[in-house]
Amino acid sequence: MKTCVIPGSFDPFTLGHLDVVERASKLFDKVYVAIMVNSDKNGTFSLAVRKKIAEVSCSELDNVTVITADGLLVDLCGALGASAIVKGIRGVSDFGYEEGMANINRRLSGIETVLLAARPELSFISSTFVRELLKYGRPIEGAVHVNAVQIIKSECLPR
Ligand code: PNS
Repeated sequence: MKTCVIPGSFDPFTLGHLDVVERASKLFDKVYVAIMVNSDKNGTFSLAVRKKIAEVSCSELDNVTVITADGLLVDLCGALGASAIVKGIRGVSDFGYEEGMANINRRLSGIETVLLAARPELSFISSTFVRELLKYGRPIEGAVHVNAVQIIKSECLPR
């Protein structure tokens, strides 16, 4: 059985993320969406809320499980028996960062990273963009899953 892990901050999970998860779910037998801490970022939503948002967004994908995890990504991949890490990239700026992470993770454990190019029509969507829309009271429909809109709006309290 081929298993992959799709790690990220997912703060919050967007339709761009969902597209990558959906495509990975056709390439792998089992997909874990792992909500993890990026030490370079201050989170807006708690890990528990991020998990809820990702779960409602992925609910129609039978071979996808959403988890939260801390520690090193390669250790998580080992514990889950994953043979690959999957990440989406929206362009050259994402590529530079993801190339570095892929090389670190391969150096640490030998695991390969598969980079999926974002669909052009979704490549403008990011978690940062969603948080900006929320900050200025603008609609987030079209950037996140329809079932996640209310959760996101109700949980986006000033921290
Ligand atoms: O969505 P992001 O912010 O690009 O996700 C980054 C994330 C969470 C995947 C990355 O920070 C990560 O892998 N964190 C876990 C710790 C780790 O394994 N770091 C890389 C090796 S030092």
